[in-house]
Formats: sequence, C-alpha cells, structure tokens
Amino acid sequence: MGLVSAFLLIVIFTVLLHQVTSTTLQSSYNAIFNFGDQYSDTGNFVILAPRALFIGNSPYGETDFNRPTGRASNGRVVLDFIAQSIPLPLIPPYLAQGQDFSKGANFAVARATALDFVFYQKNNIIPTDLPLLNTSLSVQLGWFENLMASLCNTTDACNLYFNRSLFLLGTIGVADYFTFLAVGKTVDYCNSKVPDVVGSITSVAKHMALPGVVPIGCLPRILTIYVSPNVSDYDSIGCLQIYNNISQYHNRILRVAVKQLQIEFPKAVISYADYYEPITKFLANPRLYGFTVNGSPLVACCGGGGPYNYNASAQCGQSGVAACPDPSTVNWDGTVFTEKANSIIANGWRNGAFASPPI
Ligand SMILES: *[C@@H]1O[C@H](CO)[C@@H](O)[C@H](O)[C@H]1NC(C)=O
Ligand SMILES: *[C@@H]1O[C@H](CO)[C@@H](O)[C@H](O)[C@H]1NC(C)=O
Ligand SMILES: *[C@@H]1O[C@H](CO)[C@@H](O)[C@H](O)[C@H]1NC(C)=O
Ligand SMILES: *[C@@H]1O[C@H](CO)[C@@H](O)[C@H](O)[C@H]1NC(C)=O
Ligand SMILES: *[C@@H]1O[C@H](CO)[C@@H](O)[C@H](O)[C@H]1NC(C)=O
Ligand SMILES: *[C@@H]1O[C@H](CO)[C@@H](O)[C@H](O)[C@H]1NC(C)=O
Repeated sequence: MGLVSAFLLIVIFTVLLHQVTSTTLQSSYNAIFNFGDQYSDTGNFVILAPRALFIGNSPYGETDFNRPTGRASNGRVVLDFIAQSIPLPLIPPYLAQGQDFSKGANFAVARATALDFVFYQKNNIIPTDLPLLNTSLSVQLGWFENLMASLCNTTDACNLYFNRSLFLLGTIGVADYFTFLAVGKTVDYCNSKVPDVVGSITSVAKHMALPGVVPIGCLPRILTIYVSPNVSDYDSIGCLQIYNNISQYHNRILRVAVKQLQIEFPKAVISYADYYEPITKFLANPRLYGFTVNGSPLVACCGGGGPYNYNASAQCGQSGVAACPDPSTVNWDGTVFTEKANSIIANGWRNGAFASPPI
C-alpha cells in the first residue's frame, strides 16, 4: 500500500493547501471518486466475477433500471443519489470499458475488504462460502492512480480538477467482519481487528467523506446465521447487540480519526457520513420514514424464506427467489438496503442530518 498511499497523499495535500470552503464544495463538485464495497459498487464486481455473486441477476435492479446493473439493491445506491443531487451523471464503474471518467469513477467492488488480500492469505483466513477477490482498498487506490493521468496532465490542471472533486472513501469494512465470522473467528477477534480496518481507511483519507459501517447486527444475514436462543442478546429493535458492537466500535474509531483530520486540516472539508444511525432510525420507526412494514422491519424484501427472509441456500438473485411486491422495505437482500433507504441516507449526507459536516 505504501507507494500508492504516498502518491495519493501528495494529490490530497495539493488539494488541501488551497482554501476550500464548505459552501463552494457543496455546490460545485465536478467529479466524484468513490471507493468501497457492495454498498456502493455500481458494476465492478460483476465485471470481475460475473458468476460469483447473485447481484448480476434479477430482481437486482428491478426498480429504475429494469435490469441488473451490478448494484446491490433493487435500484440506485447511495452514491447514485449523491451524484444526482449535485447534479452529476451516475458514476461509471472503473472496470467498465469505454466509459467517460471525466466526471468521476467508481472503484468500489462488492465484498471488497479494507485489509489487504495478503493479510487474509498470510493468516489463512480463507472462507469457502465467501470467495475473496484481490480488490481491497489499496488495490482500488492503485486503480485511481492509474486513472489520474488521463484526467489531468499538468500540476495546475490537476489542482483545479481535484480541488473540486469529492472523494468518498467507504463504507468499507463489513466484508472484513463477515469474513472473520465466516471462518469461525470470534466477535472478540473482530473487535481486535477494528483498529487495523479503520486504520487502512483513514491512512489515505485527508479530504473527503468517510462513511461508517452499517449496524451489522441488524442485517437479516447476521440475524439468521448467528441466531441466538437468548432473548437478552437482542436489543429493543431486535438486532444482535454483540455484532452491532463491532460496527459501533468501528464507527467510534473512525469518528475520532475524522476529528483528528479535521483539526489537522482545518481548511479541508472532511466529513463523517453515518450509515448506522439512519438504519437504526428506519428500523425503530419505519412508518415515520415511509417504509412499508409487513411484520418486522428487519425482514429483507428479496430472499428465500426464514424469519428474516434470508436463506443462504436460496438467496436473492438465485432462480426461483422472489422479491416482495413493494420494495419499500428497509433491507433489500439481507445485506444491503433498498433504493428507498439509500435515497434517504443520501439526502441526510447532503443536508447534514446524517453527515457532519454535510457533504
Ligand atoms: C493484488 O493486486 C495488486 C494490484 O494489482 C498486486 O500488486 C498484488 O500482488 C495482488 N496480490 C495478490 C496476493 O495477488
Ligand atoms: C494528457 O496528455 C495526453 C497526451 O498528450 C492526451 O492524450 C490527453 O488527452 C491529455 N489529458 C488531458 C485530460 O488533458
Ligand atoms: C481551489 O479552490 C479554491 C476555492 O474554492 C481556490 O481559492 C483555489 O485557487 C483553488 N486552487 C486551484 C489550484 O485551483
Ligand atoms: C442470556 O444472556 C445473559 C446476558 O448475556 C446471561 O446473563 C444469561 O445467563 C443468558 N441466559 C442463558 C439461558 O444463556
Ligand atoms: C457492547 O459494548 C459495550 C461497550 O462498548 C459493552 O458495555 C457491552 O457489554 C457490549 N455488549 C455486548 C452484548 O457485548
Ligand atoms: C431455504 O432454502 C432451501 C432451498 O430452497 C429450502 O429447502 C429451505 O426450506 C429454505 N428454508 C427456509 C427457512 O425457508
């Protein structure tokens, strides 16, 4: 990661040295560069590994696109709503051929980890059901480095260009925690890795928005696989508290890092963008936010049965697995959220309800 991150830091510092006010930033981004996992992938995973995940199949993309696009949702993801609110075109996936990246590029890959592939290999953390790709954050930053030369040629041109670009770094980290759990590591092990996972994010982030992670203990996937007979393991919403604790710990460390960056670079706009609070608010009070509720708000729209409509052997995108008739639920497929949820989160990041400062 060393070289790439050093290179990125140079870019970022160049930008930072200029007087950038939040008002100019908010109204005039010319491009978005996004790094992350399934929560913001807009097509890279299905290009890399078309058969390894079901997100390349219907009913993914049934809303808006009327076809699977490689987005892990029924429709648009948070990144799409951010782009449209600026307004910018939808940000093309970096691995797609023949795209115009002059208004930004999306490097996010579903299941990308924050920690490097080599960490997993060295530690023999190789899940059989969740094949890992070599698409960690550092690899994504390498792709960005490759793309840069085509975006601007001179120092002045690059300053001008990146001065007005929004960098979104995350959400990323959930795949790391899923992977540890899938190979039988404990929650304590996950927690022991949180500082490394967050460190890999903040070591490269100097002027951008850093989304935290979702409450993983509220995901149908986790609620199903790690179901507990003990009611006291569940919080008032019905989420598994120890798994939410991993997310809370991750977000706490990330927030501290964002604060430090804000102090260090007072002229830059560095935001913490919250995924945790909106999701818990939607789940605690779904009707207030306009979600449809049939039974528990924790239940996924698209899945093959079970109490949370998540079934590892009949997942959304597999043949014969249907989506609910009205995808106005909070959760889409057990892991990611519906377009409706993504839209409210994006608004909150833009207007400050769920990001501080607003992005
Ligand atoms: C992962 O990809 C990066 C960048 O392409 C490469 O340098 C690295 O060797 C790869 N790692 C493994 C373990 O294949
Ligand atoms: C950078 O220079 C190359 C070679 O001269 C040119 O093809 C390319 O269009 C330039 N890129 C930009 C963004 O100006
Ligand atoms: C970056 O933007 C600020 C104001 O938004 C401006 O003062 C500064 O000159 C810009 N830097 C470059 C290199 O364009
Ligand atoms: C349920 O969990 C609580 C709190 O962790 C614990 O005190 C209690 O012994 C557990 N009960 C059972 C039946 O395991
Ligand atoms: C969650 O973390 C808090 C401290 O951050 C701790 O007090 C609490 O016991 C943890 N809950 C569980 C269920 O592990
Ligand atoms: C999960 O899917 C399998 C395969 O279709 C099916 O046999 C099983 O009954 C499903 N489980 C639940 C709880 O619906």
